[in-house]
Amino acid sequence: MVGEDYVAFEETAEQAPGAPPGTHDILPGTDDAGHGTIGPTGRPLPDFPVPPPLAAHGPARIIAMCNQKGGVGKTTSTINLGAALAEYDRRVLLVDFDPQGALSVGLGIRTHELDVTIYNLLIERGHDVTDVIQATGTPGVDLIPANIDLSAAEVQLVGEVAREQILARVLRPVLDDYDVVLIDCQPSLGLLTVNALTAAHGVIIPLECEFFAMRGVALLVETIEKITDRLNPRLQIDGILATMYDGRTLHSKEVVRSVVDHFGDQVFHTVISRTVKFPDATLAAEPITTYASTHSGADAYRQLARELIARGGAA
Ligand SMILES: Nc1ncnc2c1ncn2[C@@H]1O[C@H](COP(=O)(O)OP(=O)(O)OP(=O)(O)O)[C@@H](O)[C@H]1O
Ligand SMILES: [Mg+2]
Repeated sequence: MVGEDYVAFEETAEQAPGAPPGTHDILPGTDDAGHGTIGPTGRPLPDFPVPPPLAAHGPARIIAMCNQKGGVGKTTSTINLGAALAEYDRRVLLVDFDPQGALSVGLGIRTHELDVTIYNLLIERGHDVTDVIQATGTPGVDLIPANIDLSAAEVQLVGEVAREQILARVLRPVLDDYDVVLIDCQPSLGLLTVNALTAAHGVIIPLECEFFAMRGVALLVETIEKITDRLNPRLQIDGILATMYDGRTLHSKEVVRSVVDHFGDQVFHTVISRTVKFPDATLAAEPITTYASTHSGADAYRQLARELIARGGAA
Protein backbone atom coordinates (compact mmCIF):
# COMPACT_ATOMS: atom_id res chain seq x y z
CA MET A 1 0.00 0.00 0.00
CA VAL A 2 1.47 3.29 -1.06
CA GLY A 3 0.21 5.13 2.02
CA GLU A 4 2.07 2.74 4.29
CA ASP A 5 5.26 2.39 2.31
CA TYR A 6 5.87 5.87 1.15
CA VAL A 7 7.44 8.25 3.59
CA ALA A 8 6.17 11.72 2.91
CA PHE A 9 8.76 14.41 3.34
CA GLU A 10 7.17 17.63 2.21
CA GLU A 11 6.56 18.74 5.78
CA THR A 12 9.38 20.47 7.52
CA ALA A 13 11.13 18.55 10.28
CA GLU A 14 11.74 21.71 12.27
CA GLN A 15 9.75 22.13 15.43
CA ALA A 16 6.39 23.72 14.81
CA PRO A 17 6.06 27.22 16.32
CA GLY A 18 4.63 26.96 19.81
CA ALA A 19 5.12 23.21 20.08
CA PRO A 20 6.48 22.13 23.47
CA PRO A 21 10.14 21.27 23.49
CA GLY A 22 10.93 17.58 23.53
CA THR A 23 8.22 16.53 21.11
CA HIS A 24 9.28 14.30 18.27
CA ASP A 25 8.96 17.21 15.87
CA ILE A 26 12.52 18.03 16.79
CA LEU A 27 14.87 15.78 14.95
CA PRO A 28 18.40 17.03 15.26
CA GLY A 29 21.27 15.11 13.74
CA THR A 30 23.42 12.76 15.75
CA ASP A 31 26.25 15.25 16.18
CA ASP A 32 24.57 17.44 18.74
CA ALA A 33 22.73 14.58 20.41
CA GLY A 34 23.95 13.70 23.88
CA HIS A 35 22.84 12.97 27.38
CA GLY A 36 19.79 15.02 28.33
CA THR A 37 19.19 16.23 24.80
CA ILE A 38 16.77 15.15 22.11
CA GLY A 39 18.25 12.26 20.18
CA PRO A 40 18.09 11.59 16.46
CA THR A 41 14.85 9.64 16.87
CA GLY A 42 13.20 12.81 18.20
CA ARG A 43 12.93 11.49 21.77
CA PRO A 44 14.96 12.50 24.83
CA LEU A 45 18.12 10.43 24.69
CA PRO A 46 18.62 8.36 27.86
CA ASP A 47 22.04 7.68 29.27
CA PHE A 48 23.01 4.05 28.65
CA PRO A 49 25.52 3.12 31.34
CA VAL A 50 28.55 0.94 30.74
CA PRO A 51 27.35 -2.49 31.85
CA PRO A 52 29.17 -4.16 34.73
CA PRO A 53 31.17 -7.26 33.84
CA LEU A 54 29.25 -10.53 34.14
CA ALA A 55 29.99 -12.73 37.13
CA ALA A 56 29.37 -15.83 35.01
CA HIS A 57 28.79 -16.49 31.31
CA GLY A 58 25.85 -18.10 29.52
CA PRO A 59 23.31 -19.29 28.71
CA ALA A 60 23.15 -17.17 25.61
CA ARG A 61 20.25 -15.07 24.47
CA ILE A 62 19.75 -15.59 20.72
CA ILE A 63 18.97 -12.60 18.52
CA ALA A 64 18.09 -12.78 14.81
CA MET A 65 19.08 -9.78 12.68
CA CYS A 66 16.24 -9.84 10.25
CA ASN A 67 14.75 -7.91 7.35
CA GLN A 68 13.82 -9.51 4.06
CA LYS A 69 14.78 -6.27 2.33
CA GLY A 70 18.34 -6.45 1.05
CA GLY A 71 21.18 -4.11 1.92
CA VAL A 72 19.69 -2.56 5.06
CA GLY A 73 22.67 -3.21 7.34
CA LYS A 74 21.94 -6.68 8.79
CA THR A 75 25.45 -8.01 8.27
CA THR A 76 27.19 -4.76 9.22
CA SER A 77 25.11 -4.61 12.40
CA THR A 78 25.78 -8.27 13.24
CA ILE A 79 29.56 -7.80 13.01
CA ASN A 80 29.72 -4.48 14.80
CA LEU A 81 27.13 -5.08 17.51
CA GLY A 82 28.87 -8.39 18.19
CA ALA A 83 32.27 -6.72 18.43
CA ALA A 84 30.87 -3.96 20.66
CA LEU A 85 29.25 -6.49 23.02
CA ALA A 86 32.58 -8.31 23.21
CA GLU A 87 34.28 -5.05 24.24
CA TYR A 88 31.93 -5.11 27.23
CA ASP A 89 33.24 -8.57 28.05
CA ARG A 90 30.27 -10.45 26.62
CA ARG A 91 31.01 -13.76 24.90
CA VAL A 92 29.52 -13.56 21.45
CA LEU A 93 28.77 -16.18 18.79
CA LEU A 94 27.90 -14.90 15.33
CA VAL A 95 26.02 -17.21 12.98
CA ASP A 96 26.27 -16.60 9.26
CA PHE A 97 22.88 -17.69 7.97
CA ASP A 98 23.13 -16.23 4.48
CA PRO A 99 24.49 -18.30 1.56
CA GLN A 100 26.25 -15.15 0.34
CA GLY A 101 28.59 -15.57 3.31
CA ALA A 102 29.03 -11.81 3.72
CA LEU A 103 29.38 -12.09 7.49
CA SER A 104 32.13 -14.70 7.16
CA VAL A 105 33.94 -12.71 4.46
CA GLY A 106 33.57 -9.55 6.53
CA LEU A 107 35.48 -11.33 9.30
CA GLY A 108 38.27 -12.46 7.02
CA ILE A 109 37.18 -16.06 6.33
CA ARG A 110 37.89 -17.52 2.88
CA THR A 111 34.49 -19.10 2.54
CA HIS A 112 35.20 -21.21 -0.57
CA GLU A 113 37.98 -23.04 1.30
CA LEU A 114 35.75 -24.20 4.16
CA ASP A 115 35.20 -27.93 4.61
CA VAL A 116 32.37 -27.61 7.09
CA THR A 117 29.93 -24.75 7.55
CA ILE A 118 26.50 -24.16 9.03
CA TYR A 119 25.18 -26.10 6.02
CA ASN A 120 26.75 -29.37 7.22
CA LEU A 121 25.38 -28.82 10.72
CA LEU A 122 21.87 -28.37 9.33
CA ILE A 123 21.84 -31.18 6.80
CA GLU A 124 24.15 -33.93 8.00
CA ARG A 125 23.87 -35.68 11.32
CA GLY A 126 26.96 -36.46 13.37
CA HIS A 127 28.76 -33.11 13.16
CA ASP A 128 29.90 -31.45 16.35
CA VAL A 129 29.02 -27.76 16.30
CA THR A 130 32.27 -26.95 18.12
CA ASP A 131 34.22 -28.28 15.11
CA VAL A 132 32.55 -25.67 12.89
CA ILE A 133 32.90 -22.68 15.24
CA GLN A 134 35.91 -20.51 14.43
CA ALA A 135 37.59 -17.85 16.52
CA THR A 136 37.71 -14.47 14.74
CA GLY A 137 40.36 -11.75 14.92
CA THR A 138 38.17 -10.03 17.51
CA PRO A 139 38.67 -11.43 21.02
CA GLY A 140 35.41 -12.72 22.48
CA VAL A 141 33.74 -13.11 19.07
CA ASP A 142 33.37 -16.56 17.49
CA LEU A 143 31.73 -17.43 14.19
CA ILE A 144 29.80 -20.25 12.58
CA PRO A 145 30.59 -19.53 8.92
CA ALA A 146 28.49 -20.07 5.80
CA ASN A 147 29.12 -20.22 2.11
CA ILE A 148 27.14 -20.83 -1.05
CA ASP A 149 26.48 -24.46 0.01
CA LEU A 150 23.79 -23.06 2.29
CA SER A 151 21.69 -22.10 -0.74
CA ALA A 152 20.77 -25.78 -1.18
CA ALA A 153 19.63 -26.18 2.42
CA GLU A 154 16.28 -24.49 2.00
CA VAL A 155 15.13 -27.10 -0.52
CA GLN A 156 16.78 -30.00 1.28
CA LEU A 157 15.18 -29.17 4.63
CA VAL A 158 11.64 -29.04 3.29
CA GLY A 159 11.07 -32.76 3.81
CA GLU A 160 12.65 -32.92 7.28
CA VAL A 161 10.73 -33.58 10.46
CA ALA A 162 10.45 -30.37 12.53
CA ARG A 163 12.17 -28.54 9.70
CA GLU A 164 11.71 -25.14 11.36
CA GLN A 165 13.57 -26.20 14.51
CA ILE A 166 16.80 -27.45 13.03
CA LEU A 167 18.95 -24.39 13.74
CA ALA A 168 17.67 -24.28 17.33
CA ARG A 169 18.81 -27.88 17.73
CA VAL A 170 22.20 -27.15 16.15
CA LEU A 171 22.92 -24.25 18.53
CA ARG A 172 21.68 -25.86 21.75
CA PRO A 173 24.95 -27.62 22.75
CA VAL A 174 26.96 -24.37 22.85
CA LEU A 175 24.49 -21.92 24.37
CA ASP A 176 26.10 -22.19 27.80
CA ASP A 177 29.43 -21.04 26.35
CA TYR A 178 28.12 -17.66 25.18
CA ASP A 179 26.18 -14.66 26.43
CA VAL A 180 24.76 -13.57 23.08
CA VAL A 181 24.25 -15.34 19.75
CA LEU A 182 23.58 -13.07 16.77
CA ILE A 183 22.16 -14.69 13.62
CA ASP A 184 22.74 -12.79 10.37
CA CYS A 185 19.71 -13.68 8.24
CA GLN A 186 19.52 -13.63 4.47
CA PRO A 187 17.17 -11.13 2.79
CA SER A 188 14.17 -13.44 2.52
CA LEU A 189 11.40 -14.86 4.69
CA GLY A 190 12.04 -18.44 3.57
CA LEU A 191 12.70 -21.53 5.65
CA LEU A 192 16.20 -20.45 6.75
CA THR A 193 14.86 -17.22 8.20
CA VAL A 194 11.98 -19.12 9.81
CA ASN A 195 14.62 -21.38 11.42
CA ALA A 196 16.46 -18.30 12.73
CA LEU A 197 13.25 -16.84 14.17
CA THR A 198 12.33 -20.18 15.73
CA ALA A 199 15.74 -20.44 17.42
CA ALA A 200 15.74 -16.82 18.62
CA HIS A 201 14.61 -15.09 21.78
CA GLY A 202 14.52 -11.73 20.03
CA VAL A 203 14.67 -10.02 16.64
CA ILE A 204 16.47 -6.83 15.72
CA ILE A 205 15.10 -5.27 12.54
CA PRO A 206 17.58 -2.94 10.81
CA LEU A 207 15.85 -0.35 8.61
CA GLU A 208 17.73 1.80 6.13
CA CYS A 209 16.78 5.48 6.35
CA GLU A 210 15.51 5.54 2.77
CA PHE A 211 12.25 6.20 0.95
CA PHE A 212 10.89 2.66 1.10
CA ALA A 213 12.27 1.74 4.52
CA MET A 214 8.89 0.51 5.73
CA ARG A 215 8.14 -1.53 2.66
CA GLY A 216 7.73 -5.13 3.69
CA VAL A 217 8.00 -4.45 7.41
CA ALA A 218 4.30 -5.25 7.92
CA LEU A 219 4.88 -8.66 6.34
CA LEU A 220 7.95 -9.22 8.51
CA VAL A 221 6.02 -8.33 11.67
CA GLU A 222 3.19 -10.64 10.56
CA THR A 223 5.72 -13.45 10.05
CA ILE A 224 7.20 -12.83 13.50
CA GLU A 225 3.70 -12.95 15.02
CA LYS A 226 2.92 -16.24 13.27
CA ILE A 227 6.13 -17.76 14.55
CA THR A 228 5.37 -16.52 18.06
CA ASP A 229 1.93 -18.15 17.81
CA ARG A 230 2.90 -21.44 16.29
CA LEU A 231 6.54 -22.24 16.89
CA ASN A 232 8.31 -20.01 19.39
CA PRO A 233 6.18 -18.24 22.02
CA ARG A 234 9.21 -16.56 23.63
CA LEU A 235 10.08 -14.62 20.47
CA GLN A 236 9.90 -10.84 20.77
CA ILE A 237 10.96 -7.82 18.77
CA ASP A 238 14.02 -6.45 20.59
CA GLY A 239 14.10 -3.32 18.54
CA ILE A 240 14.03 -1.52 15.22
CA LEU A 241 17.41 -0.07 14.28
CA ALA A 242 17.60 2.90 11.93
CA THR A 243 20.72 2.58 9.77
CA MET A 244 22.49 4.70 7.16
CA TYR A 245 21.10 7.83 8.77
CA ASP A 246 22.22 11.16 7.37
CA GLY A 247 21.47 13.89 9.90
CA ARG A 248 22.06 16.59 7.27
CA THR A 249 19.08 15.56 5.20
CA LEU A 250 15.45 16.22 5.94
CA HIS A 251 14.76 12.94 4.25
CA SER A 252 16.59 10.80 6.80
CA LYS A 253 14.89 12.68 9.62
CA GLU A 254 11.46 12.15 8.08
CA VAL A 255 12.07 8.43 7.67
CA VAL A 256 13.10 8.12 11.32
CA ARG A 257 10.10 10.18 12.37
CA SER A 258 7.70 7.93 10.49
CA VAL A 259 9.34 4.80 11.89
CA VAL A 260 9.01 6.19 15.45
CA ASP A 261 5.38 7.20 14.74
CA HIS A 262 4.70 3.64 13.69
CA PHE A 263 6.73 1.60 16.18
CA GLY A 264 7.13 3.95 19.16
CA ASP A 265 9.47 2.68 21.86
CA GLN A 266 10.39 -0.38 19.84
CA VAL A 267 12.74 1.90 17.90
CA PHE A 268 16.24 2.00 19.37
CA HIS A 269 17.33 5.46 20.48
CA THR A 270 20.65 4.63 18.87
CA VAL A 271 20.76 5.27 15.14
CA ILE A 272 23.61 4.30 12.86
CA SER A 273 24.86 7.07 10.61
CA ARG A 274 25.85 6.59 7.01
CA THR A 275 29.60 6.59 6.68
CA VAL A 276 32.07 5.09 4.26
CA LYS A 277 34.00 3.72 7.25
CA PHE A 278 31.57 0.75 7.31
CA PRO A 279 32.32 -0.52 3.80
CA ASP A 280 35.98 0.33 4.42
CA ALA A 281 36.00 -1.82 7.57
CA THR A 282 34.31 -4.67 5.66
CA LEU A 283 37.05 -4.50 3.01
CA ALA A 284 39.63 -4.65 5.79
CA ALA A 285 37.69 -7.66 7.20
CA GLU A 286 37.42 -6.03 10.61
CA PRO A 287 34.69 -4.60 12.81
CA ILE A 288 34.64 -0.81 12.86
CA THR A 289 35.36 -0.98 16.60
CA THR A 290 38.95 -1.97 15.78
CA TYR A 291 39.29 -0.62 12.22
CA ALA A 292 38.36 2.91 13.30
CA SER A 293 38.03 2.59 17.04
CA THR A 294 37.49 6.28 17.78
CA HIS A 295 35.12 6.94 14.85
CA SER A 296 31.53 7.91 15.68
CA GLY A 297 30.34 4.79 13.81
CA ALA A 298 32.22 2.60 16.30
CA ASP A 299 30.73 4.58 19.18
CA ALA A 300 27.25 4.16 17.71
CA TYR A 301 27.51 0.38 17.85
CA ARG A 302 28.96 0.60 21.38
CA GLN A 303 25.93 2.68 22.35
CA LEU A 304 23.65 0.14 20.67
CA ALA A 305 25.29 -2.63 22.72
CA ARG A 306 24.72 -0.62 25.93
CA GLU A 307 21.13 0.17 24.93
CA LEU A 308 20.42 -3.48 24.14
CA ILE A 309 21.80 -4.55 27.54
CA ALA A 310 19.87 -1.75 29.31
CA ARG A 311 16.65 -2.96 27.64
CA GLY A 312 17.29 -6.54 28.74
CA GLY A 313 18.01 -7.74 25.20
CA ALA A 314 21.38 -9.09 26.29
CA ALA A 315 22.93 -10.05 29.61
N1 LIG B 1 25.86 2.80 8.26
C1 LIG B 1 26.34 2.56 7.04
N2 LIG B 1 26.89 3.56 6.31
C2 LIG B 1 27.36 3.32 5.07
N3 LIG B 1 27.35 2.13 4.46
C3 LIG B 1 26.82 1.09 5.15
C4 LIG B 1 26.29 1.24 6.46
N4 LIG B 1 25.83 0.04 6.88
C5 LIG B 1 26.07 -0.80 5.88
N5 LIG B 1 26.65 -0.20 4.83
C6 LIG B 1 27.03 -0.78 3.55
O1 LIG B 1 25.84 -1.06 2.83
C7 LIG B 1 25.93 -2.31 2.18
C8 LIG B 1 24.84 -3.23 2.71
O2 LIG B 1 25.06 -3.44 4.09
P1 LIG B 1 24.92 -4.90 4.72
O3 LIG B 1 25.64 -5.89 3.91
O4 LIG B 1 25.25 -4.79 6.15
O5 LIG B 1 23.35 -5.10 4.54
P2 LIG B 1 22.51 -6.45 4.61
O6 LIG B 1 21.16 -6.08 5.10
O7 LIG B 1 23.25 -7.48 5.37
O8 LIG B 1 22.46 -6.86 3.08
P3 LIG B 1 21.91 -8.25 2.47
O9 LIG B 1 20.43 -8.15 2.57
O10 LIG B 1 22.41 -8.27 1.07
O11 LIG B 1 22.47 -9.35 3.31
C9 LIG B 1 27.34 -2.82 2.46
O12 LIG B 1 28.16 -2.45 1.39
C10 LIG B 1 27.75 -2.10 3.72
O13 LIG B 1 29.16 -1.91 3.80
MG1 LIG C 1 23.79 -9.44 4.81
